Amino acid sequence: MCGHKVQQRPGGSVVNAPVDLRRLTTPQDLFQAAAEEVIHAATDAVAQRGRFTIALSGGSTPRNLYTLIAANASASLPWAQMFFFWGDERHVPPDDPDSNYRMAKEALLSKTPIPPANIFPVPAENPDASAAAEAYEQTLQKFFAPAPGEFPRFDLILLGLGPDGHTASLFPETAALQEKSRLVVANWVEKLKTTRITFTLPVLNAARYVAFLVSGIDKAGVLHEVLEGNAPAEKYPSKLVQPSEGKLVWFVDRAAASELSIAA
Ligand code: 6PG
Repeated sequence: MCGHKVQQRPGGSVVNAPVDLRRLTTPQDLFQAAAEEVIHAATDAVAQRGRFTIALSGGSTPRNLYTLIAANASASLPWAQMFFFWGDERHVPPDDPDSNYRMAKEALLSKTPIPPANIFPVPAENPDASAAAEAYEQTLQKFFAPAPGEFPRFDLILLGLGPDGHTASLFPETAALQEKSRLVVANWVEKLKTTRITFTLPVLNAARYVAFLVSGIDKAGVLHEVLEGNAPAEKYPSKLVQPSEGKLVWFVDRAAASELSIAA
C-alpha cells in the first residue's frame, strides 16, 4: 500500500486538524487499501463491541470497493455482526437505477451472507421525503438508542466527494447544513431540483471513523480546495466533516491528489 500520513494542513482552511491522507497510485490500489481498512475496522469493532455498524456512501466511486469486498472478503468478515445503513439516499424506490441501496445491493449485499435483518435501507420509496427521513431517524434512534442529546456513533461512515464539495447529500448552501439536532433530514437541492435524504453533520461528526474515497482527475480541483483552500465551508460542505472523537481518513488516488501541495 503506497500511502502516508501528513502532519499539518497548509493554508489555514477551516479546521487545522492533521489530515490523514492515504495517497494511492491507481484507483484499484485505492479500493484495495479501503477494503483492507473496512475489514480491519469490522473485525476490530466486533472484537471490542460485539458488532460493526457501517454507513455506506452512494454515487459511482464506492461500487468498486463494494465489489472488491464481496469478491475477496466473503469468508473473512463477521457478516452476522455487521449492520448496514446509508449516509444518504436519492428520493427514489430501491429498485430505481439511481438508488444508492440498489447499487450496494448489486455490488455487495446480494453477494455476501449478510442477514437481511442487518440491512437498513432508507425508506426512500415513500413519496413524502420528510416522512422517509423521519422514519429513518427513528430507525437510527431505535438501533443505537443514544442517550438524550447524544448522537449515534457509527463505527465507520464511508463518504464521497462531489465536484462541488458536497458529501452524503449535504450540498453547498442547503438547509441541511444548519441542522444541529436531527439525525436524518430531507434536503431540497435546488440545482438538482430534487430532495435528497441525508445524515446530518452531527451524525457524521459523531462517528468513530469517517473515510472519504476520492478518485479521478475530475476531483483534483475540489480536493485541493477542501484540504488546502480557504473558501467558506458552507460552499464546500466536506470541510465540515470533522469527527469530534473519531478518525478521519482521506483515501485518494494519484489523479485526484494531483493538485495538492501537500508533499507526496
Ligand atoms: C450520492 C452520494 C454523493 C457522492 C458524491 C460523489 O448519493 O450521490 O452519496 O455524496 O458520494 O456525489 O459521487 P461520485 O462517487 O459518483 O463521484
